[in-house]
Amino acid sequence: PVERSLVLVKPDGVRRALIGEIIRRIEAKGIRVVALDFRALPRELVEEHYAEHEGKPFFEPLVSFMTSGPVVSMIIEGHRCIEAFRLLAGATDPVKAAPGTIRGDLATDIGTTVVQNLVHGSDSPVSAEREIKLFFPQES
Ligand code: CMP
Repeated sequence: PVERSLVLVKPDGVRRALIGEIIRRIEAKGIRVVALDFRALPRELVEEHYAEHEGKPFFEPLVSFMTSGPVVSMIIEGHRCIEAFRLLAGATDPVKAAPGTIRGDLATDIGTTVVQNLVHGSDSPVSAEREIKLFFPQES
């Protein structure tokens, strides 16, 4: 099925000037970028986006990290793009992310309080819909 997913280039990706490289990899895979936004995210939006992690030890550091600088948010679209992007991104832990993936090739973070892993991608059609509504209320 043709799906949509929410992808974020996190503050570490923006700081390290990897926006273009990350979008290039998405487009090279045949996935379309259909909406794009660049801004500092309000704390409330980040807390809502990561609501499922509330109470976990890394929640506060995660929220601080995600509000530490601007983020690129995008909606991507394509056949099975949710799974396709997650495979492109690689494992959450940059050490475990396979070479050839965005995190495996480009994430240099090891062992800080939050996993600074360059990108986020929705993990299911249900979360994609929820996250797209949050980040792009006009698109849903
Ligand atoms: P993401 O895919 O955006 O979803 C939740 C984020 O929390 C994750 O990427 C990491 O940035 C971070 N994260 C997940 N697990 C941990 C963990 N065990 N410790 C610190 N940060 C984590």
